[in-house]
Amino acid sequence: MTFKPAKWPRELRSQEWYGGNSRDNIYHRGWLKNQGHPHDLFDGRPVIGILNTWSDLTPCNGHLRELAEKVKAGVWEAGGFPLEVPVFSASENTFRPTAMMYRNLAAMAVEEVMRAQPIDGAVLLVGCDKTTPSLMMGAASTDIPSIVVTGGPMLNGWFRGERVGSGTALWQMSEDIKAGKMTQEDFLDAEQAMSRSSGTCNTMGTASTMASMAEALGMALSGNAAIPGVDSRRRVMAQLTGRRIVQMVKDDLKPSDIMTKQAFENAIRVNGAIGGSTNAVIHMLALAGRVEVDLTLDDWDRCGRDVPTIVNLMPSGKYLMEEFFYAGGLPVVLRRLGEAGLLHRDALTVSGTTIWDEVKEARNWNEDVILPVDKALAASGGIAVLRGNLAPNGAVLKPSAASPHLMQHRGRAVVFEDIDDYKARIIDDALDIDETCVMVLKNCGPKGYPGMSEVGNMGLPPKVLKKGITDMVRISDARMSGTAYGTVVLHTAPEAAAGGPLAVVRTGDMIELDVEARRIHLDITDEELAARLDAWTPPAPMFKSGFSKMFVDNVEGADTGADFAVLKGQRGNEVPRDSH
Ligand code: FES
Repeated sequence: MTFKPAKWPRELRSQEWYGGNSRDNIYHRGWLKNQGHPHDLFDGRPVIGILNTWSDLTPCNGHLRELAEKVKAGVWEAGGFPLEVPVFSASENTFRPTAMMYRNLAAMAVEEVMRAQPIDGAVLLVGCDKTTPSLMMGAASTDIPSIVVTGGPMLNGWFRGERVGSGTALWQMSEDIKAGKMTQEDFLDAEQAMSRSSGTCNTMGTASTMASMAEALGMALSGNAAIPGVDSRRRVMAQLTGRRIVQMVKDDLKPSDIMTKQAFENAIRVNGAIGGSTNAVIHMLALAGRVEVDLTLDDWDRCGRDVPTIVNLMPSGKYLMEEFFYAGGLPVVLRRLGEAGLLHRDALTVSGTTIWDEVKEARNWNEDVILPVDKALAASGGIAVLRGNLAPNGAVLKPSAASPHLMQHRGRAVVFEDIDDYKARIIDDALDIDETCVMVLKNCGPKGYPGMSEVGNMGLPPKVLKKGITDMVRISDARMSGTAYGTVVLHTAPEAAAGGPLAVVRTGDMIELDVEARRIHLDITDEELAARLDAWTPPAPMFKSGFSKMFVDNVEGADTGADFAVLKGQRGNEVPRDSH
């Protein structure tokens, strides 16, 4: 795609606030001068908002204030005027019931922060899982020139000579304790080994996946995703990003120029190649909705089918993000896809050139980390989209994290009505369950467990674990952490709390999973299913007021991105003039 830069110089939107000598201009400009800004900074140069998701309670983004200083340096160097703006920081490891409940709120806040203030261009300083999609969604709705720079992953965790992958090790060790293979004391010892430095989860979890999605979409500079948070090259990347946004504003290079259907298809293929998180499905659908690109669940299945998983990272593989960076990072993966005919090479990026120009000379420095195709972790690594009478609107499964022997399976359902029911009964050795059963968890979708918690990879019953079994087929309307693994059917839509067929599954029903055929089937007659759905009554409202009620009332299904209908689409950046 060829991009025609806008004419420069021209008047920018920030000049509506700062450009003249009216009472309002003096009000806006004069008050900002209390920070010691010289008058000539208001002369029409690009005003760059550095939207910072730093928070002491978002430890994954705890170093972003230092990085913001490097972004500022870059903006100054390029002749812009940088202003750092704190924005809503939805931390994965503190927000309850789940940070996902706040993604749309954060996106809404970011959108208004950008539109209502004199921002000509934005640097989206993000890291932890939800911070990346929320800021990109807000920026997409305003269509103000924007560029992503992520905080980068933590260094490798090590415990007793073994790599400790964020999240992945936590899930594994907690299962080992239930199976009697690990002591609580060892678990506590491992805790400190998990998080050795500033940065996001060091596995190919949701944070690393979303950083990769931003780069694959063309919304971050090439090579951004994998640089560790504490590597000096991360700070260089921040400074270069600051320089670049100034030119993007001058050129008027906007999110809608970059995030085209082709860019989304590139990102979907990258997700398959890296063994990325299933959470990316929801975030990319929501982001596409904001930028008004027609992207559906079927695009995920169609684009991902031929993509082998070649990045050997946990949770699908062996290594961690630090090693991915040393091996060459995402540019190597993009080059591979381009050579295999699986990349829209002429998709535009924030650099102003095509993605192929950015990656065509990338070198792979470690073929055990970025694997040759004949050694791929999964030949078809894309997200599998399943349909059937149990999921008329679709459900997803990540083949690279699943067990090959369970990809085609028929088993007896053991149903948990909600997460509390699951927690209460799963530890009971009297529970009638074995490894051939299909675990079914209801009422954990966007409305049911507000925000759709990451409980879909529900742990196996201890009595099964003690037999040495490590995987069973599990089905729910929940999400799963990007660091988790297993033969887990997620995002079943419509969700149980909205009256989807999942709501009427009963213990003892037979369920068939056939990943190759993309089928998930509840083995009862159509008449029986209709009768059960007729008799179904919705759960009582959980909230009377506040954002929680707003969320439950407005959130859409996982199959379309779990955004609010009222927030979909672009609303541009026009704003009524003020009236001081
Ligand atoms: Fe923040 Fe994983 S919990 S990146």
